[in-house]
Amino acid sequence: MTFGESGLAALFTAAVFLCILGAARAEDAPFAFHAALGGAASLVAVFAIFNRYFERSALPPQEINGLPNYNLGPIKFASFMAMFWGIAGFTVGLLIALQLAWPALNFDLPWTSFGRLRPLHTSAVIFAFGGNVLLATSFYVVQKTGRVRLAGDLAPWFVVLGYNFFILIAGTGYLLGVTQSKEYAEPEWYADLWLTIVWVTYLLVFVATLMKRKEPHIFVANWFYLAFIVTIAVLHLGNNPALPVSFFGSKSYVAWGGVQDAMFQWWYGHNAVGFFLTAGFLAIMYYFIPKRAERPIYSYRLSIVHFWAIIFLYIWAGPHHLHYTALPDWAQTLGMTFSIMLWMPSWGGMINGLMTLSGAWDKLRTDPVLRMLVVSVAFYGMSTFEGPLMSIKVVNSLSHYTDWTIGHVHSGALGWVGFVSFGALYCLVPWIWQRKQLYSLRLVSWHFWVATLGIVLYISAMWVSGILQGLMWRAYTSLGFLEYSFIESVEAMHPFYIIRAIGGGLFLIGALIMAYNLWMTVRVGEAESEVHLPAGPSLQAAE
Ligand code: HEM
Ligand code: HEM
Repeated sequence: MTFGESGLAALFTAAVFLCILGAARAEDAPFAFHAALGGAASLVAVFAIFNRYFERSALPPQEINGLPNYNLGPIKFASFMAMFWGIAGFTVGLLIALQLAWPALNFDLPWTSFGRLRPLHTSAVIFAFGGNVLLATSFYVVQKTGRVRLAGDLAPWFVVLGYNFFILIAGTGYLLGVTQSKEYAEPEWYADLWLTIVWVTYLLVFVATLMKRKEPHIFVANWFYLAFIVTIAVLHLGNNPALPVSFFGSKSYVAWGGVQDAMFQWWYGHNAVGFFLTAGFLAIMYYFIPKRAERPIYSYRLSIVHFWAIIFLYIWAGPHHLHYTALPDWAQTLGMTFSIMLWMPSWGGMINGLMTLSGAWDKLRTDPVLRMLVVSVAFYGMSTFEGPLMSIKVVNSLSHYTDWTIGHVHSGALGWVGFVSFGALYCLVPWIWQRKQLYSLRLVSWHFWVATLGIVLYISAMWVSGILQGLMWRAYTSLGFLEYSFIESVEAMHPFYIIRAIGGGLFLIGALIMAYNLWMTVRVGEAESEVHLPAGPSLQAAE
């Protein structure tokens, strides 16, 4: 048995006992449930480690016939989970959209109320769907561009399984009413501690793989992945210090309160957008668009400028979420200024992604996967133009608290994050399951058009309703009274909420088409005799 196997088996055995103790002495039912889940998962982990040990003759070799023996198992698992959580998250999104139109759909039950399902939706789409896409692609890209097997034997499996276990704890926690009430950081202290262990392992696997790479050059996508992994670690540690009321209960209190807490929260919240929803997916853009288009990146130099500018500027922009609050005015203005500056590197990145198609624009007609990737970059450009605009204080005084923000979020989330993820999975699945091609390009085309129509309906409905809402709230009569009561503005939203739900429904149908297509690719796709190897030149700089 290796040191890793025995060490991990010992740790999980200790975890089984700890979890039994936790479940037995739990002070609330959700904590007992989570402790029991933790105990069961640890037991399965111990069993799996021993089972693997007795079944294997030797450790997997680093190379076979002089070629790297890539570790694809964890990537396959994360890709599958991405699709699974994606469909779950979009379905819950659709349900909460319908609840806003018809509140009876809350069913008067605590578990299905909007307040609990909303964070379930946001975490399922961002962390579960997006997170698994990022795990799968980062493990793939770092191996391929370094021409080396992923570092660690059990560690990559620990990362993907441990991360998905965190999602399970977080998701079931929301349904049971466990939350620390920080947007995008809702899971309670014990889930946070577990995520810290998983994330540090992720960082170690990634860095160790980079360190043993065979290529002298570190391809730019890896820079973006690294920035994403390191910054998320820092944000997670910065925003989550909390004191549990009891070590056998789920409730905790954050270390600081008031405006300091708000400042930390939105420093975290905005950079979760910047480094989770942006930097990680930009890494996908920098690898998958050149590969799919079989063209070099338009400008390698621009990608480096893009990288440093974006990571330097993003980190200061958080206060734009706290305009007109108790936060000092200078801090709000600082956040606004950095947000406006962010427009430039964001568009620099967009131009780099789009111009990579120079000389290959015709492929957009024939390859719907490339079309999806390119449209995602266009949506990235759109939401990074809208964001700086909304960060201007006078504009924010209209947009804040309204559906305009929701429209902005979803043009980034559906158009950019959703489409770039779909494009990457369409590329990745045939590669890692060694299939010649996708089961059906026609179905990809259908997915593209159905989902695009869905996004357009979603975001245009939100823009109209958001601006309408904002204007109704600030309308005064000639006598100086508010012209509309709040409930009148709620009534005015109704048609737009129905249109949004139709848009969300179409987006979900597109994802179901995709799941079928990928499933058939794996099940009946023609096998490729050789493992897909990246054709080196397409990743070289054009200059
Ligand atoms: C079927 C597709 C989707 C539908 C129908 C949907 C619907 C919704 C609804 C109704 C809300 C609550 C809005 C409110 O409180 O007024 C929401 C919030 C949110 N959704 Fe989605 N969503 C979908 C997909 C996605 C995806 C793919 C992502 C991210 C990758 C995402 C990220 C978010 C975020 C971050 C929020 C919170 C926004 C805020 O607090 O400002 N959604 N979604
Ligand atoms: C240059 C880039 C960007 C800037 C300057 C920016 C700026 C803003 C501003 C000013 C708000 C409204 C804050 C408020 O009134 O409460 C906001 C909200 C938001 N943006 Fe962006 N944005 C950018 C890009 C993006 C992208 C690409 C995405 C998604 C992939 C995104 C996701 C979000 C989310 C999720 C929220 C809602 C946060 C919440 O209140 O829950 N943003 N952004």
